[in-house]
Amino acid sequence: MDWGMKNRMSRIISPKTGRTVMLAFDHGYFLGPTHRLEEPRKTIEPLLPYADTIMLTRGVLRTSVDPDSGANVVLRVSGGSSIVGADLSDEGITTSFKEAIKLNVAGVGISVFVGSAHESQTLLNLAELVNQGEEYGIPVLGITAVGKELEKRDARYLSLCCRICAELGTHIVKTYYCDEFEKVTTSCPAPIVIAGGPKLETEMDVFEMTYNALQQGAIGVDMGRNIWQNDHPVAVIRAIRSIVHENNKPKQAHDLFLSIKEEESKKAANA
Ligand code: R5P
Repeated sequence: MDWGMKNRMSRIISPKTGRTVMLAFDHGYFLGPTHRLEEPRKTIEPLLPYADTIMLTRGVLRTSVDPDSGANVVLRVSGGSSIVGADLSDEGITTSFKEAIKLNVAGVGISVFVGSAHESQTLLNLAELVNQGEEYGIPVLGITAVGKELEKRDARYLSLCCRICAELGTHIVKTYYCDEFEKVTTSCPAPIVIAGGPKLETEMDVFEMTYNALQQGAIGVDMGRNIWQNDHPVAVIRAIRSIVHENNKPKQAHDLFLSIKEEESKKAANA
């Protein structure tokens, strides 16, 4: 691996722990003003100190994140479809490498839709990004998207998707947690991070999913809604960090969540 690629990888995955907490808020690229992300800057600013990397589009980066925030950026560079359009899988590459370099990114991210009408198009887009990423020293995050078909999230399908991403040369794969997740991680030679998916019922569910994913071979999370749709997003991301980087168990993370939440309410009452 060349110096630039290694350097950028170390801005995404902590060299100290070999793990990462990525904060995803690229949802607007096909969902528009997603609940609690209507004003990205307001939602995201308090969370930035606790994210190793942020994942977003160039539009939200330029308008809603200060260039001196110190954030490491993985730029979403695929898109072209919307939740009300005919087919979510019909994505192209939206952002050039020249632009990504200008924005000083640590990496770029793209979705693939395996088994969809646009399977080949999205996989070839990923392969093209990897070709260019290798040329410029920029890692590519391959995202195994399921579109509206959340029920697709099982070990058999996700193993297929993750392995294909790895075979095409993607440097990090983002997928969903599922039953028998170990099958997904062991058959994928590239490091895997998990998305959170739609908001789960309790915080404990989020902490358990994170912990189990790490136990079964993931190197971290690239999570959005289960953090910023929570009423106490800072407490959630800090608790997740404690699992990812300090090996906390779900119960310890939950205790930490409760104590940060309590601190926050005291501060609010005294303000
Ligand atoms: C899809 O909108 C994006 O790839 C998200 O970044 C990804 O799904 C992670 O966000 P969440 O944890 O909300 O699923």
